[in-house]
This record gives sequence, C-alpha cells and structure tokens, in this order.
Amino acid sequence: MKQIKNILVTGGLGYIGSHTVVALQQAGYKVTIIDDLSNTQISVLDNITKITEIKPDFHLIDLKDKEALNLFFQHNSTDGIIHFAAYKAVGESVEKPLMYYRNNLLGLINLLEAMEKYKTDHFIFSSSCTVYGQADQMPINEQTPLKRPEAPYGKTKQMGEEIIADFVAATNRNAIALRYFNPVGAHASSLIGELPNGIPNNLIPYITQTAAGIRESLGVFGNDYDTRDGTAIRDYIDVNDLADAHVKALNRLLNKKNTQALEFFNLGSGTGSTVLEMIQAFEKANDIKISYEIKPRRAGDIQEAYADYSLAKKELNWNPDTPLEVSMKTAWEFEKKQIIQ
Ligand code: WQD
Repeated sequence: MKQIKNILVTGGLGYIGSHTVVALQQAGYKVTIIDDLSNTQISVLDNITKITEIKPDFHLIDLKDKEALNLFFQHNSTDGIIHFAAYKAVGESVEKPLMYYRNNLLGLINLLEAMEKYKTDHFIFSSSCTVYGQADQMPINEQTPLKRPEAPYGKTKQMGEEIIADFVAATNRNAIALRYFNPVGAHASSLIGELPNGIPNNLIPYITQTAAGIRESLGVFGNDYDTRDGTAIRDYIDVNDLADAHVKALNRLLNKKNTQALEFFNLGSGTGSTVLEMIQAFEKANDIKISYEIKPRRAGDIQEAYADYSLAKKELNWNPDTPLEVSMKTAWEFEKKQIIQ
C-alpha cells in the first residue's frame, strides 16, 4: 500500500496557502498547517474543511519562535515542507524594513535549521517575480538576470533564495523556488479567497471592494507608462492554477525527478494585462461598472512584468488554464460572500 505523506504547510491559512492545502488534500496528502494568524483568520481552517471534508492539523506557531517550532518537529513527522508564511506588502516593507527582514528571514532560517535537525528533506519556497525587478526583456524566463528589487519585501525573497541555495548545497537536500506573478481569483466554492486585512494594497481586492461599495473609487496608479494604454502591465495568474503547481512541484521532489538541488520555476499565465484591461475584464465578467480615477504612479512600481512559464510547463507538466474571466468571477463571488457574512 502507498504510504500517505505528511506535508507541512507554513502560512497554510493565507491566500495561496489555503488553496494549496485544498489541492494537497485532494491529491491524497495529509496536511499539517502552521500559521501565526498575523494576516488571516482561523475561520479559513473551517472553510478548508468544508471544501475537502478533511480537517487539516493546525498549529498556531510563529516561525520566529524557535522553541515552539522545535517542539512541533519533535512530535510530528514531516515528509515535505511548503513554506508560504511571510509578510508580503511591498509598500509596508519600505516603511518597516526590519520587521520584514526579521520575519521573512528569521522564519526561513529557523525552519531550515529545524529541517536539518529533524532530518526532513524536500522544501518548496514561495518566491516572487519581484526578484527580477524591472527586467529588460519580456517575457521573463528563469534565465532573465535578477536585478536589485525596489523594496525590502523583494529583497527578502532574493535573499531567501540565496539562503536556500547555500543550505541545500551544504546539506545535500532538495528544494524548489516558485516565482509567482500576480495571483488572482478564488476557490469555486467561494469559501476561500483573498482576505486582506484593512485597505487592500493589491489591485483585485481593491476592485472587488469598490464593486461592493466598501471603497468609493479605485485609484489607477499612473497612466503615463510606455504601454499600450499607459497603465502598468502585470501577469495575473489564477490562485487555483498556482495551487496545482505546488502539488506538481512537491511530487517532483518526492519522486526525485528534480535535476538540480535547487530549481526555480516562473508561475504566470504568460499574458500581460494593463490595469485598465483588468478593470474592463472585471466589469465584463460580472456586468458591474467600477468607478476609477487616474492617480500618480505608486512608488516602487515597475512598468511591466509577464512570464514565460514554458519551463514549468515542460518540467512540472503545469498547464494554467483558468481563463481570466473565471478568476474575475470567482474573486467577485468570494467578495460578495464576505459582505453577506
Ligand atoms: C498591480 C498593478 C499597480 C492597486 C504583487 C505582490 C507582490 C508580487 C507581485 C508575489 C500595479 C496597480 C494596484 C490599486 C492600481 N507577488 N494598482 N491601483 O505590485 O504587481 O505586486 O504581485 O510575491 O508581492 O504584491 O501587484 O496588485 O499591487 O498591483 O492601479 O489600487 O495594479 O500600480 O501596476 P504588484 P498589485
């Protein structure tokens, strides 16, 4: 009989984490979540359980608390780790750099030390397209040179990749860094989705909250970029497609199909959309008008980023196939459910 594998998901109650937990459970993995609830709510655990009918084990642990983490590893066997837990707001990281370095780097180091101590292999790291900075050429593939990120957030992701590279080389372990572009959408059940605390930083939650009347009007940050309509271009990728990529990356490590100790994969849709195109896509998918006004550029923003994901397609057999229209619908369905509650 095939042995069921135990997978630890840090940050498993967050946006991408919760969708990945669902995908892992549906693929037959036993999931344990560590989360400190700093940017999510415990109700996400019940909602995951409603979708899959399996309650994941949950431990309220801050990864900076090394003792609590060691205690966890003493009592739980883990076949692989998917590490999402981190702060992720670009603007906030400019204002509170030390909070970002402490949280994102110390959390990672504590986790890697625990892996070594408790003899766990197989590590998947939530990385980001921000590691590329403003790339000179589009689309961005894994050979595209990394530039200095604008904000401390992006630097923590670049440093995180470096730390993992040195760790796997020194300890003969295996890891995959997944570089996400811009995650959007929600689970088809509307039970889990993106639930930012306070005023949203990201475009789609701002759009859905404007549609819901929580925000008066959306600010479009800059229309003087050198793009087809003057607004910035990003690659919006459905969160369920991202979750699927994690399951595939984990299978690759567990089946020893990786060709290097640390591999990198870009996860995007391959299509760049402007901010105005995203507003139109949302309006069309949901038959709602979004009120917006043009504002100055946002500090730290780049003009354009979209992915060449052919490596993930070839090596992970990953085919992101959720149309943008569906992501816009599920994002709105999830938002509406929050208003009712
Ligand atoms: C998208 C576009 C804004 C809000 C995100 C993550 C980052 C990384 C990449 C993973 C930009 C514009 C936004 C608004 C707007 N992912 N915008 N009005 O900055 O690309 O970064 O994806 O690590 O962590 O934060 O995403 O959604 O903030 O912005 O005009 O109210 O929408 O200027 O061009 P971003 P975003």
